Amino acid sequence: MMEIAQLLAEHNGENYDLHRKYINPAFVRVLRIIGYDEVYTKGEGAYLYDQDGNKYLDFLGGYGVFHLGRNHPKIKRVLRELLNLDRPNLIQMDCPLLAGLLAERLTQMGKASYPGLDAVFFTNSGAESVEGALKFARAATGRERFLYLDHAFHGLTLGALSVNGSEHFTSGFGELLPATPIPMNDLDVLERELKKGDVAAFIAEPIQGKGVYIPNDRFLPEAGRLCHEYGTLFIADEVQAGLGRTGRFFCGEHWGISPDIVPISKALSGGFVPVGAILARREIHKKVFSGLERAVVHSNTFGMNELAMGAGLAMLEVLEEEDLVSNAARMGERFLAGLERLKDRYEMVKDVRGKGLMVAIEFGPPKSLKLKGGWTALEKVQEGLFAQMVVMGLMHDHRLLTQVSGHRVNIVKFLPPLVIGEKEVDYALDALDKVLADAHRFPGGLWKVGKDLVKGALLR
Ligand SMILES: Cc1ncc(COP(=O)(O)O)c(C=O)c1O
Repeated sequence: MMEIAQLLAEHNGENYDLHRKYINPAFVRVLRIIGYDEVYTKGEGAYLYDQDGNKYLDFLGGYGVFHLGRNHPKIKRVLRELLNLDRPNLIQMDCPLLAGLLAERLTQMGKASYPGLDAVFFTNSGAESVEGALKFARAATGRERFLYLDHAFHGLTLGALSVNGSEHFTSGFGELLPATPIPMNDLDVLERELKKGDVAAFIAEPIQGKGVYIPNDRFLPEAGRLCHEYGTLFIADEVQAGLGRTGRFFCGEHWGISPDIVPISKALSGGFVPVGAILARREIHKKVFSGLERAVVHSNTFGMNELAMGAGLAMLEVLEEEDLVSNAARMGERFLAGLERLKDRYEMVKDVRGKGLMVAIEFGPPKSLKLKGGWTALEKVQEGLFAQMVVMGLMHDHRLLTQVSGHRVNIVKFLPPLVIGEKEVDYALDALDKVLADAHRFPGGLWKVGKDLVKGALLR
């Protein structure tokens, strides 16, 4: 009989070798080069612990799934309770109660932000939610083409990839769906494309995950209005920015937009079980599931599984009980104000931006001659290495997990759990201050890290 704790203990530390052998050796190499090849053995709230008991502050947040932090006791309790009840899960030819309850809760909470979203379809991931949204838009409009934004990221399955704004992800995978990129904030280009009359949907993240680009205040409301004028559906992808991340339940609330379809996922189960959902107007559903013959024309096997549904209900309750959406707004303000102060002090900080706890710091070339040498040496090898060097410094010296926000960009992104307090925000600001001070001394400690990074990058 397998004991999972014993299995974990027996093989502790074999992680990277097993992955090199059986999963993705290229990724293992990247992690080794940037010093992210740690062996973590415990997660609690906003913190991770490695096998030696060292504590790490996680501002990467599992790519934005840990709104509640890791291993929230309430979600654990609900999951255990469900397992103990020997529930009849995945009967398929029935209507599972918990899915109905979660759909009811989501539409109630969703309607407060976005009016008219009264139908739900459950999925297993963000990409699957986006795939479904694109299919729904085609079925509802009878049109084929999609519009999306430069820098967009909506997942990596073929449909979602068709509306991806980065060649890094799209190239090498053959022909995709007909879709046209729109520069952010360019309403003229958007209208020119909409006028052609063949666009099923315009899809946009209210705040973009790759780079944390924020549209101007006019763009999204006006884009939504134009979509509706030309018979196109407006999809607001809230997979990353939704469920409280930006200090509002849905991010689009910042601008009072009214999308027709809203894919969500990531944080919905508290980070325990794959889950996702597509919220949409009922008329759209009616066009997809247009009669008895087509009652399951779009479906999946695991979408309404009980663990995901139960965790989803518990997650939404915790979000309210612990007032996490407001906390995200408050902590985000504190963090951003601190980053602004760093921007005033460090010449390579070009921009800081964000809403709630979806925050970025962007770097640019220095003016002073002595720093220019280091910057150019790094960027010549590969754009974005400066940001990578900062990410490494934060990890090595301060055990703070972050990420470079996209391919070949000098942007570091922060997606901390929404449960963080002033202590965590101030720790991260202090760590950044020290790492940036180090990076603004040349030659200095951090540039040695940069040298190793260049060596690693060249050896690839
Ligand atoms: C805005 C957005 N949409 C869709 C996705 C895809 O989600 P998943 O990785 O669960 O497929 C992501 C993932 O990061 C995302 O940020």
